Amino acid sequence: MEIPEVDSLTQSILAEAAAAADLAALEALRIRAIGRNGLLPKLMAELKTATDKRAMGQALNRFKTSVTEALAARKAELEAGAKAARAGAFDLSLPGQWGGRGKLHPITQLIDRTAAIFRRMGFTVADGPDIETEHYNFDALNTPADHAARDSQDTFYLPGGWLLRTQTSAVQARWMEAHKPPVRIVCPGRCYRRDTTDATHSANFHQIEGLYVDKKVSLADLKSDMDHFARELMGGNVRSRFRAHFFPFTEPSVEVDFSCHMCGGKGCRVCKGSGWIEIMGAGMVDPNVFAAAGYEPDSVTGYAFGMGIERLAMILFGIDDIRRLYENDARYLAQF
Ligand code: PHE
Repeated sequence: MEIPEVDSLTQSILAEAAAAADLAALEALRIRAIGRNGLLPKLMAELKTATDKRAMGQALNRFKTSVTEALAARKAELEAGAKAARAGAFDLSLPGQWGGRGKLHPITQLIDRTAAIFRRMGFTVADGPDIETEHYNFDALNTPADHAARDSQDTFYLPGGWLLRTQTSAVQARWMEAHKPPVRIVCPGRCYRRDTTDATHSANFHQIEGLYVDKKVSLADLKSDMDHFARELMGGNVRSRFRAHFFPFTEPSVEVDFSCHMCGGKGCRVCKGSGWIEIMGAGMVDPNVFAAAGYEPDSVTGYAFGMGIERLAMILFGIDDIRRLYENDARYLAQF
């Protein structure tokens, strides 16, 4: 065979390699071209008798390298195609992939549960801004100008006379200003205080506020509604009790305890042996608060209450450190 013939043979094998339809056809071509009994060994055998041994040797080298490369390249192409085809196939007999179901955060769960209980009692869910004025957060709530809670050590003040609300009670003032009595609302939301974070404090936390105003709302209404709420939230046998307290916006003011849902009031680790757990602040709306909202203090009465959601979540779910609620460790939060 002459050199031009070898070169054109090389070209035709390269064309065949590029056109090989599948791996089997490609393998057959490999055997025929460079296999042990293929074309290449035969041509090598003829090399001894060639007129120009050097030029023929170079032509055969060209044959060997370019054919080997072309075979490898086409092989990679065919394999990639087969893989893509496999990935695109949809096998109905394979078991499904379970992505895991999402859950609501314990804080959200408790807000929903609490709001649902009060909704069944005729309350509406209301909302107010996190960024408040001193007026709604303090003044309209009968809080004296020198009250300790106003201190910049306790409250986050913003430029321009704004502040981050320290309590959802601010929504009471806003709501009454915009709605005539009777009023029955609960307002869940974020609150902010300059507290140093530890196991039971966080600078950002949640409260749910309640306000009921009508012609003859009494402390007895507050007591029976708190008993009802305690049973609905914690279980059948839980009761509430009042302890005298002070808040600027209620008179009289109380702190509301629930009997311990773990020991039934006998005293255990959860209630620290007392049989009672402090749940919220409450009281009868101070006439000054009605006046600031434009209500007629002589013709309406009402009760208000406010509780910390994190505290409630910790008691109900047995969480030992408030920070666990904010670390966003899905493995931990998924338990609740
Ligand atoms: N705002 C009070 C607090 O943050 C709770 C409260 C609300 C007390 C309504 C009485 C009435 O502690």
